[in-house]
Amino acid sequence: MYVHPAGRQPPGRPGVSHVPVGHNHVRKPLTPGGYLIIIAVSTTDILSIRVGHSLAPPTIFTTSSLPSNRRMKLIVAGATGYVGSEVVRQALRRRDITSVVALARRPVEILDTVEGDVGKLKSVVIKDYDDYPEKVKKEFEGADGCIWTVAITPSKSRSLPFDEVKRVCQDCTMSGLDALYSAAAVDKREEPFRFIYMSGAVTSRDRSVTPRFMPEYSWMRGETETKVLEYAAAHKGMEACVAKPGYITGGDAMRTVMGTALRLTMSVPNVTLQQVSAAMLEQVTKGFERDTLENEDLVKAGQQVLA
Ligand SMILES: NC(=O)c1ccc[n+]([C@@H]2O[C@H](COP(=O)([O-])OP(=O)(O)OC[C@H]3O[C@@H](n4cnc5c(N)ncnc54)[C@H](OP(=O)(O)O)[C@@H]3O)[C@@H](O)[C@H]2O)c1
Repeated sequence: MYVHPAGRQPPGRPGVSHVPVGHNHVRKPLTPGGYLIIIAVSTTDILSIRVGHSLAPPTIFTTSSLPSNRRMKLIVAGATGYVGSEVVRQALRRRDITSVVALARRPVEILDTVEGDVGKLKSVVIKDYDDYPEKVKKEFEGADGCIWTVAITPSKSRSLPFDEVKRVCQDCTMSGLDALYSAAAVDKREEPFRFIYMSGAVTSRDRSVTPRFMPEYSWMRGETETKVLEYAAAHKGMEACVAKPGYITGGDAMRTVMGTALRLTMSVPNVTLQQVSAAMLEQVTKGFERDTLENEDLVKAGQQVLA
């Protein structure tokens, strides 16, 4: 017997159905005596899957251990930004993300003309990413992951004192991690909490190597990457991943021109806004392939999701 996608459920008792297994999940026919039970509240809303054989104990996959069906409450920090707003738009379209907390310095409004479930969105305003009042922390309760896009980008950093740039890029990230860790009770969770820190392709974690582009800024962002990864390693239940895109194109023609120029003159790779957002969402929901995603990883993962 072959499995077919869970969406095509044969007639059966509502709630508990014995269905053939989809070939996308189980690649070989079940042997005689083998069975598969999908417990679902609807044809696509699966609670658990039990695979077994009459002669052996079953293997039970609960919702949380089913990568494609993990229900996720996601925090998007910096939700009014160029990347943050696209991440929110795509998150609203994903079935495995059931709740999106859009954390930003001003309210996030998504038009209900946007494809996706706008009802999943909760806009949470924060005055400063360094300070987490109780009412903001309350919104982090039950969260499963976060995509952190807050930063002062290189072009904007030129008009601000470096201390302030470092405070927003580094101190605020670490304060945010602390606030999430305690408010989402990460140490008590069964599943890991996944945190993606958005950085850039040209940063450097190594002080002995002088980056070719804005050295102090690039070192500071690289140091932040290290701090985030070290934080996760030292905190039970926390998993972190650093996304390092090159120049992000999409939205307007100017970005395409700029991206092409940077690629040709400085070998800075490009990724589209849709690709980088899709890639980060896929990783945060399904699990991290590795702790650092370079531009090519983001392009590949994004292309796969968007195909
Ligand atoms: N865009 C690219 O081509 C590119 C390439 C590589 C890496 N990245 C990285 O990707 C991440 C997101 O970039 P982006 O292009 O989406 O940047 P963005 O549009 O400038 O958004 C950055 C976010 O940080 C917040 N922010 C900016 N200045 C702040 C300040 N002084 N205090 C508090 N919050 C502040 C913004 O809030 P407001 O909306 O309230 O201003 C926004 O939510 C950054 O880490 C960036 O370095 C971007």
